[in-house]
Amino acid sequence: APDIPVANVKAHLAQLQSIATSNGGTRAHGRPGFRASIDYVKGKLDAAGFQTSVQSFSHNGATGYNLIADWPGGDVNNTLMVGGHLDSVTAGPGINDNGSGSAANLEIALTVAKEGYKPSRHLRFGWWGAEELGLIGSTYYVNNLPSAERSKIKGYLNFDMVGSPNAGYFAYDGDGSSGNGGPAGSAEIEKVLRAHFGTINVPVEDTPFDGRSDYGPFIRYGIAAGGLFTGAEGRMTSAQAQKWGGQAGTAYDRCYHSRCDTSTNINDTALDRNSDAIAYAVWTLSGGNQ
Ligand code: PHE
Ligand code: CA
Ligand code: ZN
Ligand code: ZN
Ligand code: ZN
Repeated sequence: APDIPVANVKAHLAQLQSIATSNGGTRAHGRPGFRASIDYVKGKLDAAGFQTSVQSFSHNGATGYNLIADWPGGDVNNTLMVGGHLDSVTAGPGINDNGSGSAANLEIALTVAKEGYKPSRHLRFGWWGAEELGLIGSTYYVNNLPSAERSKIKGYLNFDMVGSPNAGYFAYDGDGSSGNGGPAGSAEIEKVLRAHFGTINVPVEDTPFDGRSDYGPFIRYGIAAGGLFTGAEGRMTSAQAQKWGGQAGTAYDRCYHSRCDTSTNINDTALDRNSDAIAYAVWTLSGGNQ
């Protein structure tokens, strides 16, 4: 799998920050900064040769959007989907939550194109709207797929907050080793998502597989899922600070859902490690050559 240059991921974050700045400091559902974020990501993917579509929905009297991008080729009856939410809260620009997952996924999609990657499974990417209002966009997408289409999605990888400034390294507990696991296939996804961290000797902890992000609607239909996370409002323990570095007793992201979730609210090392781990998982699980 390719090594993802973190500078490329950060360049997308700089664009999302600038979109927020020129649109009242937010990229929230119903605000022009959200639509501009969709247009930015779509423009990059279209230029790279993805088949994109924008799905509209209505929530709280405003129009929301999901961006879906298919990489042509691969077995569509065995589709692997990769996603994250592109909206922020109204309070701030949402650069860690979830510019980080959005930008990492975008750079991985662009790398798929640049390498002319030919996976054996079909690859589809999604950037969801209105997650912050209750997983609205991802729920709309999954609920409105014809059941024959829904059953072709055999796995879903979710990335929401992968660059927290006081970063923890968490994988959704798909195998249920510390709580409720996920649908069949989720254990294998967790294992592959953890693998890159093993090669760089970074310990990974489980985080509850409780549906607190856009994989929720997928697992409700029995679709195998998984994801990575660097922590939100929770505080780092001293044991975690020992093994990961970082500040004990402080939130993983003290700017969570706040105005200060800006370009400076990113841990470059965490963003780099997670981007590489996502790439490893996408390449490994999609089963192509290279
Ligand atoms: N979905 C939460 C948010 O956007 C963040 C989160 C992600 C929490 C993953 C737990 C696990 O605010
Ligand atoms: Ca890297
Ligand atoms: Zn989020
Ligand atoms: Zn959030
Ligand atoms: Zn686990």
